[in-house]
Amino acid sequence: MRVSPALPGSVALFVSSVVAHTLPSTAARPATSVTNATTSVVSSATPSLTGTSTFTSIATPTPSIVPGVSAETVKKNKKRGLAFAAGDTPDDIINANQTKGLISWQYNWASIPPTYLATANIPYVPMQWGSGDIQTLADNIRAQDAKVVLAFNEPDFDVQSNIRPTDAALLWKQYIQPLKDLGVRLGAPAVTAAPTGRPWLTQFFKACDECTIDFLPIHWYGSGVGAFTDYVYDVHNAFPQYPIWITEYAEISPNVTVVLDFMNQTTTLLESLDWVERYSWFGYFRPKPDDFQSYNLLDDDGSLNALGQFYIGAKTIHTSIIPPGPSYVTVSGVDNPTQGLVTTYPAYASDAMSAWNILGIGSSASTATGVLGALVSFVLGMFWILF
Ligand SMILES: *[C@@H]1O[C@H](CO)[C@@H](O)[C@H](O)[C@H]1NC(C)=O
Ligand SMILES: *[C@@H]1O[C@H](CO)[C@@H](O)[C@H](O)[C@H]1NC(C)=O
Ligand SMILES: *[C@@H]1O[C@H](CO)[C@@H](O)[C@H](O)[C@H]1NC(C)=O
Ligand SMILES: *[C@@H]1O[C@H](CO)[C@@H](O)[C@H](O)[C@H]1NC(C)=O
Repeated sequence: MRVSPALPGSVALFVSSVVAHTLPSTAARPATSVTNATTSVVSSATPSLTGTSTFTSIATPTPSIVPGVSAETVKKNKKRGLAFAAGDTPDDIINANQTKGLISWQYNWASIPPTYLATANIPYVPMQWGSGDIQTLADNIRAQDAKVVLAFNEPDFDVQSNIRPTDAALLWKQYIQPLKDLGVRLGAPAVTAAPTGRPWLTQFFKACDECTIDFLPIHWYGSGVGAFTDYVYDVHNAFPQYPIWITEYAEISPNVTVVLDFMNQTTTLLESLDWVERYSWFGYFRPKPDDFQSYNLLDDDGSLNALGQFYIGAKTIHTSIIPPGPSYVTVSGVDNPTQGLVTTYPAYASDAMSAWNILGIGSSASTATGVLGALVSFVLGMFWILF
């Protein structure tokens, strides 16, 4: 997904649709917006599928112990989450699902996890991305006994969920507020860091004045630890009553050293702030063809790059190389002794990805292209099986 101020949103959508189109229909569409060149605010998102899981504890900087696994081997970071919606490379989750991994929660912009996330030993946090299918949210929450939910994704952004604050408040009252009775913690809509964000939130809170919102998720894309820190503090000062989750953020510099240093400093910062409950870097993705991004946590073959190793806190145990290279390489199971050597996930063909682009699966709004995308996926699926 291209998330750069230099790139028009339509291009970003087009490219990121490769990720998005393989996801279920609940999925959102990645996008991009540009705001201020000084603080370089950009926004984006991606969506996806199904699942199971719950997570109740409030984050603290202290590592927690995963039940059933010895304390020496597993220390999770209660705040650190995974933003992963790459339905075309589901096996990439393996590098996050290992005993040494620090990740304590994950989300994919959908309200039900797909099997590969539901079985990844990482608690899943459902999201009601937009207004679509919102009437099924309560059932989805009950089905997975979820104890926390994220609400509308970038509703202030016309290529994201694009909902007026007053409409969002009505939807909230009807479909989200009642989840409180199920013991679910409710996340506010996650606005962009663009100038539309905070005014949208202010109007939403006003229209939803009897709603009980438990925490405030925010997004940020830009350059510089200072700009990021300023934004997080600004939001906190504007809405001090809510603990904050940063559910998408990234340093958009093309320089990998700069990005790693940014991640290093900002994770340290976020660990130190008691009003920051959780955060998830954007994102756990491979670079797409012609769309290298220094903030991706994965390399072309699904391995953890330096950033990914730092964020996950472990080394690569599995790769899956896209033809025409070797079809896959199994590295080693040392980080996760119970998992053994990993498997052959037949990677998607780069030709096929080009084909998707050519077919123009860039418009999430188009049923025709959606169907076409599904067909292409199906054919590819057959290919994978035969392969
Ligand atoms: C960008 O941010 C700077 C510094 O806060 C401000 O002076 C400027 O007006 C902003 N520009 C836009 C286009 O918002
Ligand atoms: C990347 O950033 C590092 C640290 O600021 C700097 O030393 C290096 O020269 C940069 N690399 C490039 C290619 O600009
Ligand atoms: C992260 O920052 C700490 C403290 O400055 C430093 O010691 C460490 O080497 C950094 N880690 C990476 C991977 O850059
Ligand atoms: C996650 O790891 C566990 C333990 O090794 C394994 O049983 C499970 O299949 C893995 N799930 C995925 C999706 O890789």
